[in-house]
Amino acid sequence: DGFAASRLFSQGYSYTYDDVIFLPHYIDFPTDAVSLSTSLSRNIRLSIPCVASPMDTVSEAYMAAAMAALGGIAIVHSNCTSAQQASIIRHAKSLHIPIAPSVAFASPQDVLPAAPQGRYVFVTESGTLPSKLVGYVDCENLKGEEVKIFDHMRDCKSVESVPWNYDLGKIEAILEEKKSDFVVLERDGEVVNVLIKEDLERLKGYPKLGAGTVGADGEWMVGAALGTRESDKERLEHVVKAGANVLVLDSSQGNSIYQIEMIKYIKKTYPQLDVIGGNVVTMSQAQNLIQAGVDALRVGMGSGSICTTQEVCAVGRGQATAVYKVSSIAAQHGVPVIADGGISNSGHIVKALVLGASTVMMGSFLAGSTEAPGAYEYKNGQRVKKYRGMGSLEAMTKGSDQRYLGDTAKLKIAQGVVGAVADKGSVLKFVPYTMQAVKQGFQDLGASSLPMAHDLLRSGTLRLEVRTGAAQVEGGIHGAEKGTGLAPF
Ligand code: XMP
Repeated sequence: DGFAASRLFSQGYSYTYDDVIFLPHYIDFPTDAVSLSTSLSRNIRLSIPCVASPMDTVSEAYMAAAMAALGGIAIVHSNCTSAQQASIIRHAKSLHIPIAPSVAFASPQDVLPAAPQGRYVFVTESGTLPSKLVGYVDCENLKGEEVKIFDHMRDCKSVESVPWNYDLGKIEAILEEKKSDFVVLERDGEVVNVLIKEDLERLKGYPKLGAGTVGADGEWMVGAALGTRESDKERLEHVVKAGANVLVLDSSQGNSIYQIEMIKYIKKTYPQLDVIGGNVVTMSQAQNLIQAGVDALRVGMGSGSICTTQEVCAVGRGQATAVYKVSSIAAQHGVPVIADGGISNSGHIVKALVLGASTVMMGSFLAGSTEAPGAYEYKNGQRVKKYRGMGSLEAMTKGSDQRYLGDTAKLKIAQGVVGAVADKGSVLKFVPYTMQAVKQGFQDLGASSLPMAHDLLRSGTLRLEVRTGAAQVEGGIHGAEKGTGLAPF
């Protein structure tokens, strides 16, 4: 019944996740017996198979701390100076309590908006974190007026500061004892976070965190993206000094002499650090990077939600086919595969993992969350955050053009778009729910772990089929209005 993957993926078609469907297998264990623990790369273990994309609307400090706390990891983007990237990495590692602040920050020169968010505005030298604390403004009696921060600022003498690595219990005890509304967390003389009572309550309401991803330094593991230019060797020094635990060479077409030379350079300079290469979609591209010494491969070209590479450049591959093909060669060399892009529901995650990937890398799925960079705005009555392709003109103007090898070209060609994603709340809440759904998918397939799923697929025990257009419609919501309680979570 159905087809073995080896047969289905050798018929000359390029399949996306939605094109294929697994046939159910036999269940002889409960959902909670499914383990999703996995490898990001040769030497890094994760307790959940989730990686946040190196994109400037996805992975900065708060995303990196939250993903590590969940047992996954984030790769901090490089669409900024190397000093800024290093500061984001250090900041992420300093967020021992992995939550994004809900209070606002400003610099002394700023003007307080007429409708500030929340009661307090914290004033730091740079207007953001991490930075030196200058004071704070209590907006209680100032609402409705546009006033200069400097004129209404209270100094920090009365502010309760504690070291960055205090745990939740200690912080709660301090708030209680001092009858304070907030506590400032500091590291090396700089504020790394400000927590208010409601933040702590919110955190306690989220699913309990399991084993987080912690490096040999005892802090959150954080990845760093880099390019392959000569100047990236200097960036490399900065991010390694900041404590980056793994490096990702960020190219849309990774099978290049530039990337191969960079892999060799990094492996020679920092033999203790894992290097992730890509992106690739074919077996021969993968083979080249494996030979050069990569510790994991990132797979996907044009499958991302904001990508236009396939339309602009006529190059790429359906993501289900790409993940299956690359994984089959990578597995022979013990190199884990990261299925990058095209994930929009838990079913896509199940498909990517069962087809051979060890982790999924996600952009849009994590964008729009509390931890994603940027502020919420309102669009057509909906609370949204910006999400943009790193190959969009807007992002490339900021510097990400080298991912698309636009370095020597005078004309920039966009390979991505700018969009917005609805407010999803915290990743600390929706990622654990998603993982529970993925476990149910594994249970339906009779696989209690990733290695077991990979074995069942390769041996031909797990069977697949291609879905016709009508089968895809049938498999989605139909015959009922979306939003009437029938929508999947
Ligand atoms: P999702 O589907 O998770 O995809 O939003 C995220 C992945 O998409 C890639 N990416 C791009 N690809 N043009 C592209 O062709 C772009 O502008 C672009 N920006 C990101 C990247 O691999 C990311 O992880």
